[in-house]
Amino acid sequence: MVLKHQQQKIAQNFGSASASYDVSARLQRFSGKHLLPWLPNRHDLTVLDLGCGTGFFSDILATRFETVIGLDLSKDMLAYTSENRNQDIHLVNANAMSLPFLDNSLDVVYSNLVIQWCNPLIDLLNEIKRVLKPGGLFIVSTLVDGTLFELKSAWAQVDDEKHVIDFKTKESLIHDIESVDFDLLEVKQQDIALEYENVRHLAHELKGLGANHVPNKSNKGLAGKDKWRKMTLAYEDFREPSGIYPATYALCSAMLVKLNY
Ligand SMILES: C[S@@+](CC[C@H](N)C(=O)[O-])C[C@H]1O[C@@H](n2cnc3c(N)ncnc32)[C@H](O)[C@@H]1O
Repeated sequence: MVLKHQQQKIAQNFGSASASYDVSARLQRFSGKHLLPWLPNRHDLTVLDLGCGTGFFSDILATRFETVIGLDLSKDMLAYTSENRNQDIHLVNANAMSLPFLDNSLDVVYSNLVIQWCNPLIDLLNEIKRVLKPGGLFIVSTLVDGTLFELKSAWAQVDDEKHVIDFKTKESLIHDIESVDFDLLEVKQQDIALEYENVRHLAHELKGLGANHVPNKSNKGLAGKDKWRKMTLAYEDFREPSGIYPATYALCSAMLVKLNY
């Protein structure tokens, strides 16, 4: 029940961001493009874009593969995709944790910056493994521990509340992958530092991405102006001589294959 509520909140947050999402999705574009070279070179495949959002990458996948399915928890994201992207993309409103597909039915699952919202991760990995054909690929990017460390550290100087989502470590991610018997063909981690004019700009971009929801956060917007002011003062420690404010995203990308049994 609690989990269901959290997923509704996630869908709502992303949904209300669907129109502004494409302008603020610098990180998504970078990381999603980074995954494209791992896609197979065959056209006659069925590919799922898991957590397709505004369908930017479903559109690219549709130029390469015979059947592309864009799946998302948020109806608003799918409405945007339906209006703005290739009409041949099959759109599905569903939860990644419970996929409405038959066992062994998909050739590739592509997922850019989604699985960090899905808990428990092992259940999600088992579900993806179920729907993939033997030999099928799961091509994925996610954020790991170290992401937004500047913002976490600035908030930590203000109070003990959790203001930023917890990200798994790369080691624990790999452990989960291996425990469900996926074969890990490739894994890469890189820290991307994006530049912001000020902390408000960063907060605005996180909001535009729908990434402003912290599960179980009790204090919501009531941190109040004073706490916000203290946090932005603490963030000054990270300001660079050029005057820009960096925010780090620890990006982990991987290519997994479902073993042939
Ligand atoms: C950061 S966006 C990434 C969108 C897209 N993959 C891209 O690269 O532009 C995350 C997306 O995942 C979706 N999402 C989050 N949790 C989900 C879940 N459990 N099942 C399906 N979609 C989910 C959100 O609604 C949102 O559209």
